[in-house]
Amino acid sequence: MMEKAIRTPLPSGGLGWTAIDQREIDAVTGLLKTPQKLFRYDEGEKRQCDLLERELCEKTGASHALFVASGTAALSCCLSAYEIGPGDEVIVPAYTYIATAAAVCDVGAVPVIAEIDYSLGLDPADVEKKLTPYTKAIIVVHMQGVPARLDAIRAVAVRHGLVLIEDCCQAIGATYHGDFCGVHSHAFAWSTNYYKVLTSGEGGVFFVRDDDAFQRGLYQSDSGMTMWKTSIESVLKVAPFSRSGVRGNEIAAAIMRVQLTKLDEILKKTRGLKKLLLSKLNAPAHYSMQYVDDPEGDCGFSVTFIANSREECKKMNAMLLEEGLALGSVYDTGFPDRHIYANWDSILNKNGATPLNYPWNDPAYKGDVSYSKDMCPQTLDILSRSLRFAINLNMTERNMLEVAEAINKVDAAM
Ligand SMILES: Cc1ncc(COP(=O)(O)O)c(C=O)c1O
Repeated sequence: MMEKAIRTPLPSGGLGWTAIDQREIDAVTGLLKTPQKLFRYDEGEKRQCDLLERELCEKTGASHALFVASGTAALSCCLSAYEIGPGDEVIVPAYTYIATAAAVCDVGAVPVIAEIDYSLGLDPADVEKKLTPYTKAIIVVHMQGVPARLDAIRAVAVRHGLVLIEDCCQAIGATYHGDFCGVHSHAFAWSTNYYKVLTSGEGGVFFVRDDDAFQRGLYQSDSGMTMWKTSIESVLKVAPFSRSGVRGNEIAAAIMRVQLTKLDEILKKTRGLKKLLLSKLNAPAHYSMQYVDDPEGDCGFSVTFIANSREECKKMNAMLLEEGLALGSVYDTGFPDRHIYANWDSILNKNGATPLNYPWNDPAYKGDVSYSKDMCPQTLDILSRSLRFAINLNMTERNMLEVAEAINKVDAAM
């Protein structure tokens, strides 16, 4: 019997959570020893959230950062920051976690779904086609740590005077032309949930450029913002409004402060492994690689192979399994992946929280967006031909060499 290409079992593991060690444990227990300091706002004294926010700005180059309860909450802050709400349409990609579209609904605006291309991020040409007189913003999403086609999408936003928001929930640390993804757009969001590059269990960060927009995001995050004796140093000059309660918590912030110090090390590892794997691949015959607009900025934990046809994808997948490599296609009608618009039933059915079904039936909304499961055929076609390999922190160079060997062997044998 022929030897399998994968001879060394691929270790399980993840990113941020796999990097957790005594330092996070000490940060949490240290904080619990002073329970009177568990609230994030204090008069004068800097709390964990305040310190984290300063460290986040220093690390990313962003003007303002606010630690909140989740990535979804951070996206709502980004939208509210620029007064996006009832009557407005916001373009989101057909391939992203449902939360991107949900945040748009959360502020009362209507999500408009646009195709992705071989970057697995927004297709700038389709964004252009989806614009209406009601379009106010574009949310570009950097899926799986890979920067989307930011220059081309920014050009559309600039040409039409739209707000550009970057959903970096899956791409903490990704860069574009050398700068952190997000810093050159109006606002951007991170998620620090369990699955992400850095984790605090749950959490998110709202980053924004302008002072007034930051204040609007603050109000969005905490219904009683102006009533706290906050240690936030800005003078609140924008008229306050009350909305949700998604402020960050001190324990999560304490964990995140440690995690942030590990970002460079985590990405050095994933980027190094991905580069090695790519360098060992032969010129492909039956697939192409995901297009990566800025390979240097890629977080490096995801490698996507796009087969030439759906049939070849199935065959490649089955043959890789025989070599000991279980990839699984990204889009498979048998598995309702919430990262694909066709599975966002609550959005496609225009279900609101009440029988009025806002935001779609909001009288302020004059557009007529329509959705269907097959509305983005290009996206479904690309995703149904995509096989993804996820790199984790427990993997080694040997694993990469064997994965490359498996891919080369199968591609040559197909
Ligand atoms: C692309 C994207 N956007 C938004 C979110 C929402 O983040 P959270 O789960 O922290 O609310 C996620 C989380 O999985 C995501 O992957």
